[in-house]
Amino acid sequence: MTDQTSAARASSTTQDRVLIFDTTLRDGEQSPGATMTHAEKLEIAQLLDEMGVDIIEAGFPIASEGDFAAVSEIARQSQNAQICGLARAQFGDIDRCWEAIKHAKQPRIHTFIGTSPLHRAIPNLTMDEMADRIHETVSHARNLCDNVQWSPMDATRTEEDFLCRTVEIAINAGATTINIPDTVGYTAPRESAALIAMLLEKVPGADGIIFATHCHNDLGMATANSLAAVEAGARQIECTINGLGERAGNTALEEVVMALKVRNDIMPYQTGVDSSKIMNISRRVASVSGFAVQYNKAIVGKNAFAHESGIHQDGMLKNAETFEIMRPEDVGLAETNIVMGKHSGRAALRSKLENLGYELGDNQLKDVFVRFKELADRKKEIYDEDLIALMRIATDPETDRIKLKSMRVVCGTEGPNAATMTLVVDGTEQNTEQTGDGPVDASFNCIKALVPHTARLQLYQVAAVTEGTDAQATVSVRMEEDGRIVTGQSADTDTVVASVRAYVHALNRLLVRREKGGTDKREVSYKDVG
Ligand code: KIV
Ligand code: ZN
Repeated sequence: MTDQTSAARASSTTQDRVLIFDTTLRDGEQSPGATMTHAEKLEIAQLLDEMGVDIIEAGFPIASEGDFAAVSEIARQSQNAQICGLARAQFGDIDRCWEAIKHAKQPRIHTFIGTSPLHRAIPNLTMDEMADRIHETVSHARNLCDNVQWSPMDATRTEEDFLCRTVEIAINAGATTINIPDTVGYTAPRESAALIAMLLEKVPGADGIIFATHCHNDLGMATANSLAAVEAGARQIECTINGLGERAGNTALEEVVMALKVRNDIMPYQTGVDSSKIMNISRRVASVSGFAVQYNKAIVGKNAFAHESGIHQDGMLKNAETFEIMRPEDVGLAETNIVMGKHSGRAALRSKLENLGYELGDNQLKDVFVRFKELADRKKEIYDEDLIALMRIATDPETDRIKLKSMRVVCGTEGPNAATMTLVVDGTEQNTEQTGDGPVDASFNCIKALVPHTARLQLYQVAAVTEGTDAQATVSVRMEEDGRIVTGQSADTDTVVASVRAYVHALNRLLVRREKGGTDKREVSYKDVG
């Protein structure tokens, strides 16, 4: 056992420490459309590591070359967190997982198999055959790594006796953490607690093991189910930033962390997470995944700390606690104010961005400052949200092969919508005029005419950054070509210009990906249980 694992266990029993296991980069990222680039995965892993997450599930190494490379790199870069990789109950998966994580300071192998009747039918194994498979694979993992997590997938729909039997086998084979997944989001709080209590009571050897809870949110109960499991004895919560994940998503990290903090009076458990870093990582995950956070989402939604009605505002001015159970700064939300204008200088911009969690090098600051000035010419009041949107524009003048020089659109109720556009492609100016079903469509048709490609647009998303008709629009575009998925982002007070820039950004990334080769196609999914 690693020192760290023993320390975590010791503290879990003496101080009721709950370990936070973040699976944004594995369960979150496998949600259709949430694909992140290699660099984005590294950035999110670093933020997770810095905020005090105990375990980062960095990916599923057998799934693709890209997953393997990301997990290996995260394993090398992480300073504090344990780095975990997922593996099905197969020797090949487990070996590949170990290859990817073995450079981590604290590696963990997470292996699993579906134990419910429906899941057992997929590999067509009898209960005895499955029991043997669990013993062999967990033992194999434990021979490679002294920190092994085992999960009976669809545990909440598995027969109680069989679940106890498989958990006991995994413990005897050397598993150090047992995770109990509610794979289809089916359980309810009382049942979630009863299941953990039952396992702790009935399974021999369970008292020396950390039990984890892994909930999906199909019935909107993931957070409640996770907390109920903790009250029954689970000491690890598996979760994702913003609740990202397949279907209705996973338990949201920010919700369980803040629930344990704010209601520590009735749930006296500690996590190691610095909650003031929540807003920053939430914004980054929303931005790189293209999954915007709903306005009224608990903790990280735009309205979570907004008090608009007259009665509320009056109460808030007298005493913030009247309508507030936590302070915005507890989650890293600085008060929204008019921060800057066209006379603000570079040093002020740097300092403001640092307050918002962005550390910039000199060249990056120069680039952002130019865009800030352009924005300040068009928009009188620049809010924190405007600056965050500016930071999402990740153009690279050095490597971008396509640049927007100028454009004009004609749209309205009469006649065809048309766009004229000049792009600089590999240093040469090219222009065209195209029509389309609306100004955005016409503009995208211009790009397609000037830079022919077969990429399919998978997502086109627009959101207003602030209120007012001069608000910036942020646009996310995701496209796919031959199994390569790229995203592009931009922000501008003109929605059509922001859309074109986001498209051009994605296309520049696609050109780089074409040169590098390789695809994002996953050869296997965790659902292919062989
Ligand atoms: O939901 C689930 O069952 C999973 C497993 C792979 C742990 O994500
Ligand atoms: Zn899951």
